[in-house]
Amino acid sequence: MTNWLVTGGAGFIGSNFILHMLGGYAGVNIINLDSLTYAGNLENLRAVDGRSDYKFIRADICDRDAVDDIFKAYDVARVIHFAAESHVDRSILEPEVFVRTNVLGTAVLLNAAMKHWMRGDGFAPGKKFVHVSTDEVYGSLPETGLFTESTPLDPRSPYSASKAASDLLVKAYFETYGFPCVVTRCSNNYGPRQFPEKFVPLIIANALGGKMIPVYGDGKQVRDWLHVDDHARAVRLAAEYGAAGQVYNVGGQNERYNIDVVRVILTALRERLPDGDARKEHIDDGLIEHVADRKGHDRRYAIDASKIKTELGWEPETAFEDGIAATVDWYLANGDWIKNVTSGEYLEYYEKNYNGR
Ligand code: NAD
Ligand code: DAU
Repeated sequence: MTNWLVTGGAGFIGSNFILHMLGGYAGVNIINLDSLTYAGNLENLRAVDGRSDYKFIRADICDRDAVDDIFKAYDVARVIHFAAESHVDRSILEPEVFVRTNVLGTAVLLNAAMKHWMRGDGFAPGKKFVHVSTDEVYGSLPETGLFTESTPLDPRSPYSASKAASDLLVKAYFETYGFPCVVTRCSNNYGPRQFPEKFVPLIIANALGGKMIPVYGDGKQVRDWLHVDDHARAVRLAAEYGAAGQVYNVGGQNERYNIDVVRVILTALRERLPDGDARKEHIDDGLIEHVADRKGHDRRYAIDASKIKTELGWEPETAFEDGIAATVDWYLANGDWIKNVTSGEYLEYYEKNYNGR
């Protein structure tokens, strides 16, 4: 068995990644390190709880001693680093926690891995640190063009600036120490278990609750949407076969205007709710409300993912309309999950971000 330390495994992508790994890849032991912020939810991992090849450790990635203890207790072969503050709107309201977790937390993990993986002048064989990053580090595109791995970094929100800072730290560890690391930069994910502050589950949760759907500005911003299972596969391939020091862009070749994403989801909801369900009656364009634009809103993201296709044989597999239908089904079947995560702290955040709407 090889030990893979997954940080942020109780969050959206981390939990889907762990389920992907434990669903089909024998021989890997997963250690999930997560501090369980508002975005972390062990409910996401109920299916693997109690398995001998899965262990959860509640700790903060900024806590040097706790991280060091994990490396002492386990011979870690891979670090898959998802843990982060991940929501752009929250970073606009409270930037500091993004710097702490995303920059300092990454530095703590890099140092621990360095310390425990170093052998003489080099590193023990078979080790790799996968830093899961985002296309947002490249900034915003005009109507044409694609981000490639050599596009200069130009982050424009506190979130993307903190991710770019952590990407550069990882690069610096490679350049300075020859540290075995890989960076992935993925476009917008959607799928089951995504916290409803993000656009896709927000649309689903609000539509089901008969609440307005807030569309920032004119809704003509473009994102490249990718199903989370496709992202999980890309991260696994990068962890297994990615070359040290390399960056891999990951994208869905699926650019959509935000306003069109709303319409695809509303259509899926109408189709998938059973006949006679009262919620069906109010799910239409009347719920859409154009609200004040996000500050510094990036206009367009689009990814050139040809490198990961050529070098690691990865391609997106889930068509957007199919993935959205399956995602809608998951949220319909997990009403209690939405209810649990949208109580408490989320209500305060919602009030603040949408000015009491
Ligand atoms: P998420 O917010 O759903 O989950 C983040 C997880 O990290 C949570 O479980 C949280 O408890 C944990 N965490 C936060 N701070 C921590 C700390 N200090 N110590 C330990 N654990 C901590 O995020 P996500 O959407 O699953 O994103 C995961 C990663 O993927 C992030 O690094 C993000 O930048 C990156 N990413 C996300 C997307 C996307 O569309 N969501 C796209 C590309 C890249
Ligand atoms: O591109 C990858 C990034 O995708 C990840 O790095 C981030 O962690 C992830 O949160 C996501 O960032 P975005 O800001 O693109 O995602 P979000 O779901 O917040 O918003 C998607 C688009 O929808 C964006 O253009 C803003 C818009 N939007 C979002 C919300 C929450 C609205 O119009 N209204 C809203 O209420």
